[in-house]
Amino acid sequence: MRQSLVVGNWKMNGTRASAQSLAKGIIAGLNDSEAGIAICVPYIYIADIAEVVKDSRLALGSQNVADKASGAFTGEISATMLTEFSCQYALVGHSERRTFYGDTNESVAARYCQAQEQKIIPILCVGETLEQREQDQTFAVINEQLDAVIDVAGIASFANAVIAYEPVWAIGTGKTASDEQAQEVHQYIRQYIAAKDQAIAENLQILYGGSAKPDNAKGLFAMPDIDGGLIGGASLDAESFLKIYQSI
Ligand code: 13P
Repeated sequence: MRQSLVVGNWKMNGTRASAQSLAKGIIAGLNDSEAGIAICVPYIYIADIAEVVKDSRLALGSQNVADKASGAFTGEISATMLTEFSCQYALVGHSERRTFYGDTNESVAARYCQAQEQKIIPILCVGETLEQREQDQTFAVINEQLDAVIDVAGIASFANAVIAYEPVWAIGTGKTASDEQAQEVHQYIRQYIAAKDQAIAENLQILYGGSAKPDNAKGLFAMPDIDGGLIGGASLDAESFLKIYQSI
């Protein structure tokens, strides 16, 4: 049986002090659920938050990782550096990276590989824009985003990866995908992977992201192919993040 997972993506929010108190607040409210829980925090707070989470089951992740191992790449953070601060997860291919910072399918695949080489679990974000959905391009876009990684890393790599389906039109807009809309794409992703490797697909955690909130999480998480969530805005408040987590 797949373990569920809820991941907070803090994006570029907070201060050093608020980041620490948010992480402490989450830990203080953790129940003894078997579901995994993680936060992906701004790079500069990773060292502080690694200290805060160290004796807890709240896992730590980054919001990106360099596509190269080391060298003259000003401003980048390597997977090896992240392992020094016990990062277990790294988001790769978030739509904000793809849209605003030019991360391409190819660079996302390279980032995914860099993470895995250092035993960091990449959370591969995929999803279509509103325009692509309206033109019936959703599955084609997702195929391309998945194929770029499968071609380079191989299908077996998904034994150590998580996929997050984040329809771009639902991110930060308050417009969540309906339970059925999200399930349709999650099922599609699982079947796409299953066509290449059934066992990997059955164990693959596929998270939903995009305006997930305490009041819609239960319905989404009840869908058979939705294994948890990647939460943006609602993860910036310990109480609402924990409510979402408790909806699993
Ligand atoms: P929101 O939950 O704020 O819509 O953000 C989703 C997201 O982008 C998580 O990575």
